[in-house]
Amino acid sequence: MLAAYESIPRKDRVIVALDCDRQTALDLAKKLQGKARWMKVGMTLYYAEGPAIVEILKLLGFKVFLDLKFHDIPHQVSGAAASAVEAGADMITMHAVGGVPMMQAAQEAVDESGSQADTLAITVLTSMNAETLAETGVNRPMAEQVRALALNSQEAGLSGVVASPQEAAMLREVLGPDALIVTPGVRPVGADLGDQSRVATPKQAFDSGASHIVIGRPITQADDPAAAFDAIAAEL
Ligand code: C5P
Repeated sequence: MLAAYESIPRKDRVIVALDCDRQTALDLAKKLQGKARWMKVGMTLYYAEGPAIVEILKLLGFKVFLDLKFHDIPHQVSGAAASAVEAGADMITMHAVGGVPMMQAAQEAVDESGSQADTLAITVLTSMNAETLAETGVNRPMAEQVRALALNSQEAGLSGVVASPQEAAMLREVLGPDALIVTPGVRPVGADLGDQSRVATPKQAFDSGASHIVIGRPITQADDPAAAFDAIAAEL
């Protein structure tokens, strides 16, 4: 049987990252209306604009991935998750290192709200390397840490994880066919890499097990963002 997400076309599982100010975000949203299904709002835009930015994007017809990466005591994260889905978020994130009880508290808050929002765990930030991971007191290798935290998130009942395309195949195997695996670090063929180094093309990311991909600058900084989105959709 197909996992629930697999019945949705790949182009509707491309999430456009709005890492910009309000006006630029709204201009982009209008250009991508009717094309892109998902927008990602991160801390920068959310801390400036608050829940209103989520509500506006919802009114424009988008699903919203609210990537605020919660990490606090369970009581606080429960409240944060409730507030996020109340604002209309369709997907939220938290750090798996916050622990299983913290992730369970978030999941319970989402369930109790009646929202169908998906919950994702951040395992190890891709900005970290073996050295910076060791400095946090983690002695096992990176891949083992990612795997263990992903399993914790599954035990807590979350919908899935955020991961680099390089980890997607391993995580698909560990978490099974139904888990969501959302991968940033995606670049269409021939695109500028920006500050991303270990990248995959959109098609490669899906083929290696991603359920959703996040793409920012190749679309948001294109002269014609709608055409850039269409080109990516065609590649899939
Ligand atoms: O512009 P670009 O396509 O690089 O944007 C990718 C988005 O995914 C950004 O919002 C970035 O913060 C986010 N992200 C990432 N790498 C991670 C986690 C999130 O690039 N490991």
